[in-house]
Amino acid sequence: MAEHALTTWESQDLRDRILERLLDAEGDWVSGAELSAITGVSRTAVWKHIQTLEELGFTVEAVRHRGYRLTHVPDIVLEPLLRRRLPAGCALGRRVLYAPVIGSTNATLAHLAQSPALPHGTVLAAGTQTGGRGRRGRSWFSPDTGLWFSVLIRRQIPLSRAAEITLLASVAVRRAILRQTDAPVQIKWPNDLLMDERKVCGILAELRADGEEVQHVVLGIGINANVPHEAFPDELANIATSILAASGRPVHRTQLAADVLRELEPMVEALAMGGAGFAAVIDEWRSACHTLGRDIRVQTPGGLVEGFAIDISPDGRLLVRTHTGERLSIPSGEVLF
Ligand code: BTN
Repeated sequence: MAEHALTTWESQDLRDRILERLLDAEGDWVSGAELSAITGVSRTAVWKHIQTLEELGFTVEAVRHRGYRLTHVPDIVLEPLLRRRLPAGCALGRRVLYAPVIGSTNATLAHLAQSPALPHGTVLAAGTQTGGRGRRGRSWFSPDTGLWFSVLIRRQIPLSRAAEITLLASVAVRRAILRQTDAPVQIKWPNDLLMDERKVCGILAELRADGEEVQHVVLGIGINANVPHEAFPDELANIATSILAASGRPVHRTQLAADVLRELEPMVEALAMGGAGFAAVIDEWRSACHTLGRDIRVQTPGGLVEGFAIDISPDGRLLVRTHTGERLSIPSGEVLF
């Protein structure tokens, strides 16, 4: 599949203003003249944006002398659809870019974030990723039934506290999933989410720092929302699942994204204000944790560690007692299944 270039900011903005007005009309007609007046572009240009909406999965009826009306709205993360599900004033998601197909939302957002004009809270979401990035240089399977997005966090956060962001995100994603399903969701240290003991969500934070201060974080969240189990490739079939496969019911992805952002926003603000950060949700994390209280094997940058997972520290380190009785505090690594 060819990579879909991000349409320019301006053109996504015009498309979104047209969509906003059509959504406000709640299925009633909106004239081409009005859409042209709102956007300041010709009626032919309005028609082109309507065609773009149809390519994205909207159904728009067009009748001469009446205008346009929306008859079907797809579940995709476009700004007007997401913002309607976010609390007023929520900074995360106040700007949303969407690409039906992209290499990696993390890679593209990191590139776009080089411009200081891109505001804190910008979300880049994608239908499909052709080069989705996972932790430890792995690729991330990203078919069009999942939820793949990255959030730009441009807040003053000390580098020493940056690791808390992914832990906070794991709690936020878990809360968001639990708003749509009763099925249990566990956390595998540091930030993988599991359902039925299989991975349902991965989180990848990539940051840029200046000395001891974080300049920005690109926080990538991949949720296997409605991926049918049979769609996973053989190598993932036993270790990955989706919310659909684990709970038997599809989720509303735009709502899921909005709930993640709504939950994450106050946590990130607290961190930026020098507040409690992960310590504020550590008990919730512990009670959802799949790793603590078990004999585990952890692949760390320094090698394989085997032992008993005792606890997590407020800065996110995994505390392990090895079989020889040594107590280790592991800052990063991966718990092996
Ligand atoms: C992991 O290996 O557990 C992390 C996976 C992170 C995947 C998400 S999907 C959205 C964002 N864009 C990427 O390329 N990766 C992250």
